[in-house]
Amino acid sequence: MITRTAVKKKKATVKKTVVKPQKTSKKSKKPVVTAKSTHYAGLAVQLRALLEGEFDFIANVANFAALLATSLPEVNWAGFYFLHGEELILGPFQGKPACVRIPLGKGVCGVAAAQCETIIVPNVHEFPGHIVCDVASNSEIVVPIFDGEQVLGVLDLDSPVLGRFDDQDAEGLNELVTIFVAHEEHLEA
Ligand code: SME
Repeated sequence: MITRTAVKKKKATVKKTVVKPQKTSKKSKKPVVTAKSTHYAGLAVQLRALLEGEFDFIANVANFAALLATSLPEVNWAGFYFLHGEELILGPFQGKPACVRIPLGKGVCGVAAAQCETIIVPNVHEFPGHIVCDVASNSEIVVPIFDGEQVLGVLDLDSPVLGRFDDQDAEGLNELVTIFVAHEEHLEA
C-alpha cells in the first residue's frame, strides 16, 4: 500500500493539459494508432515485465525512471517527485542533479500536483515560475500520480526540444503511471 497523501484528486485520472496544449487535428472516438502510441504500448509491456514479482517501491520507481530515460527520444531528464506534506521531494530519476524540494503550487511540478492535472509545457521559458534544473531543458511534461483519490507525487520529463510533448505523450505516460500504481497496490491494470 502506498501512503503519502495530502492533495485530493478532483476527478478520474486526469488527461487534461494546460499551457498552450498541442492542437490535434480531428476528434475520433476510435483510438488512433500512431508510432508514438505503439511505442508507449511497448513501454507498457516492458514496465510490466520490470515490475513483475518485485514490490520494493524505490527499486521499482528507479527502474521506471530508467526505462523512460533510455527509451524515450529527446528526453534529458526523467524522474519522480513524491508529496510529503505540502512539498514535493525528489525521488528516483535519470538526468542532471535536480532541485530537491518543490512547494505545492510552485513550478510546473507543484502546479500539476496542486491542480491534479497533467501539464504540457511546450516552452518552459514561457511558464511563469518554472524551476530550472537543467539549463538544456526547453519543454516539459508533468503527470500527477494518484493513489486512489490522493495525489502521491508527479512524474516529470524534460526535453531540450521545444514542443517535444503532446497529448499522446500525456496519454501514454498516464497509462504507464496507472500500471505502476496498480502494481504497487497489487491490483490489475
Ligand atoms: N522544472 C520543474 C522542476 C523539476 S526539474 O525539471 C527536474 C518545475 O518547474 O517544477
